[in-house]
This record gives sequence, structure tokens and C-alpha cells, in this order.
Amino acid sequence: MSTSGRPRVLLMHPILDPGPAILAEAAEVIAYPSNRPLDQQNIRQAAEGCIGIVSHLKDPIGPVVLSNPTLHCVSNVAVGFDNIDVATATANHVWVTNTPGVLDDATSDFAFALMMAVSRRIVQADSFIRQGNFRGWEIDMMLGTDVHDATLGIVGIGRIGRGLARRAKGFNMRVLYSDTNPLQRETEQQLGATHVELPRLLAESDFISLHVPLTKETHHLISTAQFAQMKPTAILINTSRGPVVDEAALVEALKTHRIGGAGIDVYEREPAVHPGLIALHNVVLAPHIASATTRTRSEMSAMAARNMATAVRGGRPPNVLNPEARK
Ligand code: DGY
Repeated sequence: MSTSGRPRVLLMHPILDPGPAILAEAAEVIAYPSNRPLDQQNIRQAAEGCIGIVSHLKDPIGPVVLSNPTLHCVSNVAVGFDNIDVATATANHVWVTNTPGVLDDATSDFAFALMMAVSRRIVQADSFIRQGNFRGWEIDMMLGTDVHDATLGIVGIGRIGRGLARRAKGFNMRVLYSDTNPLQRETEQQLGATHVELPRLLAESDFISLHVPLTKETHHLISTAQFAQMKPTAILINTSRGPVVDEAALVEALKTHRIGGAGIDVYEREPAVHPGLIALHNVVLAPHIASATTRTRSEMSAMAARNMATAVRGGRPPNVLNPEARK
């Protein structure tokens, strides 16, 4: 509680309109000092006396932060929440919320854009032009691979994976998917997607797109053994979380042409990018922007702010991940 008597919320980083107004109506909002490192000790100190923290996916919210006795809610401005120790939050009676649903289409669009960019060498082509190398049409210049009619393997068939399958239909792709929770037959038919185990998906797909959350089970889901099962022309797309892929193994697979290419939006030690990736041309790299459209990021901001405002007012936030944390 602040001296004004209003509950206080720590906003770790700026969010987009209408998020700030929604938060300001419910609480006194204090900003995390932008020059302070993002470690638990500093976050804990900045959140002293706060009822809530509006966090981003780069903020480590673990036992130190969650030991704050005034804290009721952490609202993450992301659908992924692997930066938050939810079990400890629950034990400490802290709700954790995320922003599901609003970023699915933007993320599926971006995964598709990466598929196109890598297979049709769009980034390389752009540099080629800018470097003054275009001297005229050539029959074998910048040959790529077809997306249409190719086989797409979707690893994790949640909302974003299903969005990618819908987009693939327009390109007449054959869609395989792997998931520990297979879809109902009817949904599979609507999407034109066939459930297979991961090894078969890896062996048969021209494009492999990852859409699993980061958990203990999915950490390094794709490593040397999995690259060995892929076609030498396969293109790997990752818009999920960096540590789902063993980045050193990815560099090796790309360097040795064990696979054909990759489109990567997320990194194992974000924001650090494996130097081996930077040196390669058969990979397109993006700075974790799959959900970055103005509309989507505004909706994420609004949703996170509403989750927090509800908790501040004593209600149960709509997108709570651990409802059992508080009565
Ligand atoms: C998320 O929400 O988890 C994405 O990685 C960022 O939009």
C-alpha cells in the first residue's frame, strides 16, 4: 500500500495502450528503474510494499521475488510463463496470470513468414540487392525450395500450432503433428492434420515448426539425435522458447548441412544469440517478435492490465494459472 492509501503495482517495463490506463484506474503504478539489472534481488526490492507485479518474459520471478508478503498477483505480459516459478507462487499465495489467445494468429503468421523467408531466401536476396550484386536475371540464381505441396510437421498442436495448420491448408501442405494430447478425430479432419510420433514427424517433414511450452520435458526436445532423424533439406522453425532447441546442436546441424535451414525467433540464452548462428546464411534470425503486431501487443497489454486490475480489486483474475493460490 502506498502513502496515498492506494494499492501499489510494480510495472517492470512499459506496456502499450490501453494497458497503462487500466492499471492506473486500479492502483498506483510504479515503474521498475530501467537502469537496474533484472535479477530477483533487485525486483524484490523494487516490489517492496506492492500488491502486484506486471512482468515480462525476461523477468525472473522466483522464490526471492515471491517471498514478498504483500504480493497477491504477478501478471505476465505473455502467454508463456516459464520465467515464473508457479509452484512457489502458489505456495506463497500469489496468483500468476498470462495472456492466452490474443497472440495466436500473429504468432502463427510469423511462423509461416519464417518458413517462407528461409525457403525462398528472402533475407539473403535483400542483402544481395543492397550490396549491389544484382546484375540481371539468372536461371539458377537464389534457388529455394517450395512451401506449397511440402510436408509440414507441427510439434505441439495447441492454439498456435492449429493456426499454423490452418494456414498450411492454403498452401496445399501435408500436415503432420505430434503432441502428447492428440486432437479429436473431427478436429484433425477439419485441419487436415495427421497425428504421428515425433521420430516419424522428424523423418518425413520438409518444415518442422515448434509450438510447445518450455517445461522440463521439452527442454532440448530438439538436439543432435533429433537433427540426425531429419531430412538433409529440412527447415526448422522455432517461435516457442529458445531452450526447446539445443542451440549448439542446431549450429552444428546447420554448419554441416545436416539440415537445410532454420528460422529462429527465440534463443537459448536470450538476448544472447549463439555466435555460430550469426555466422550462417541458411538461417533467418528474428529478435523474439512473433507476436509483435501493434494490435496483438496492445491486446496483450490490455489483458495483462485487466488481470492485474481484477486482482487488485479483490477479484479472481480471468487468466489465472493457479486459482488455488488464493481464496
Ligand atoms: C509469449 O507471449 O509467450 C511470446 O513469447 C511473446 O509474445
